[in-house]
Amino acid sequence: MFRSGRLDNSLGEAGVTAKTSNKKLMQVLQGEAIWPPPIWLMRQAGRYLPEYREVRATAGGFLELCYNPDFAVEVTLQPIRRFGFDAAIMFSDILVIPHALGQNVWFAEGEGPRLDPVATIEDIRKLGEKDPLEHLAPVFETLRRLRRELPAETTLLGFCGAPWTVASYMIAGKSTPDQAPARLAAYADPDFMKALIDKLVETSIDYLVAQVDAGADAVQIFESFGSALSAALFEPLSLEPIGRIVRGLKSKRPHAKAIVFVRGGGPNLERIIEAGISDAIALDWSLDLARTLPRIPHDLPTQGNLDPLALVAGGDGLLRGIDGVLEATRGRPHIFNLGHGILPQTPIAHVETMLARVRGA
Ligand code: CP3
Repeated sequence: MFRSGRLDNSLGEAGVTAKTSNKKLMQVLQGEAIWPPPIWLMRQAGRYLPEYREVRATAGGFLELCYNPDFAVEVTLQPIRRFGFDAAIMFSDILVIPHALGQNVWFAEGEGPRLDPVATIEDIRKLGEKDPLEHLAPVFETLRRLRRELPAETTLLGFCGAPWTVASYMIAGKSTPDQAPARLAAYADPDFMKALIDKLVETSIDYLVAQVDAGADAVQIFESFGSALSAALFEPLSLEPIGRIVRGLKSKRPHAKAIVFVRGGGPNLERIIEAGISDAIALDWSLDLARTLPRIPHDLPTQGNLDPLALVAGGDGLLRGIDGVLEATRGRPHIFNLGHGILPQTPIAHVETMLARVRGA
């Protein structure tokens, strides 16, 4: 059995297994091949749902939605009520961390996220002067309430952004097509980059520990910009900091599970597996499962990887896509998901078709 370097806590304290055994997704994370596979969708709470758009319109700004437990609990539960997904992911955003560290963050209508960029070591020293966990208290309240309100068999997921992805927003101050400002900083000022990454690692460990304490069964770490890094920078800026976060979390909360999603991680798949940092390898939609799964130890859980555009399109393309994932992953511990977040233009009927197909498998 290939377990080299893996943080295997499936035989953790007695009681943990019993407590989670009614949750299919947690069973998969412990290495069981469940059939049909449990299913949830990245960004499952969001603009494709009319009930989300309605709450969003009353909340005022997007961050108000994230920091108000009444709203955040409601929109987290919406896709669970409608579709009965096997996991609920708490409603928040990866950019609440820079916000909690004192950076100015706002969501301009139709423009996506904006931040006052960090540029110098001095800017980084100022981050976190006020306790970030205090700022994030509403997120933990949201999780505590969700824990009470969710069906017993639904896994509750927390999350954070990976340091490189979050740093790229903090440096550019906005979404960029190729993360050039952060990549440039990594070459031009490695000390600045290291200080920023270290600050994010430290804060993310505390944040995830608090999420687990508030009721999250597992956490997902989003490395959305994994493909932007050169081969030489992937290790120090992505893999190593994510590893520190996962090990930091597990040293404090040994029963916690972590799913690492590296978008564009294909070329680094072996390195991600060997680092032993993820309880499930989350696969983006660019990966051909027939070629990729043989590269992953059979007992190491996987998650993914239907193309979100197949779900937008529907029809035969969607059914072929779903069947392809099901056939490739049958007999393995797998969590059905998209290869990236669900798109706002996705018809609800297509999500229903997908659920029926997966659950009827
Ligand atoms: O998955 C869920 O349902 C939980 C909530 C969640 C959101 N963002 C809500 C959101 C999660 C897990 C995220 C993660 C996130 N946020 C990532 C990593 C995942 C990925 O997609 O790669 C990133 C890069 C962000 C940063 C971010 N937040 C961007 C770039 C944007 C704007 C782009 C867009 O899709 O509009 C957001 C805003 C955002 N976060 C929305 C939602 C539902 C839409 C905002 C709105 O309702 O106006």
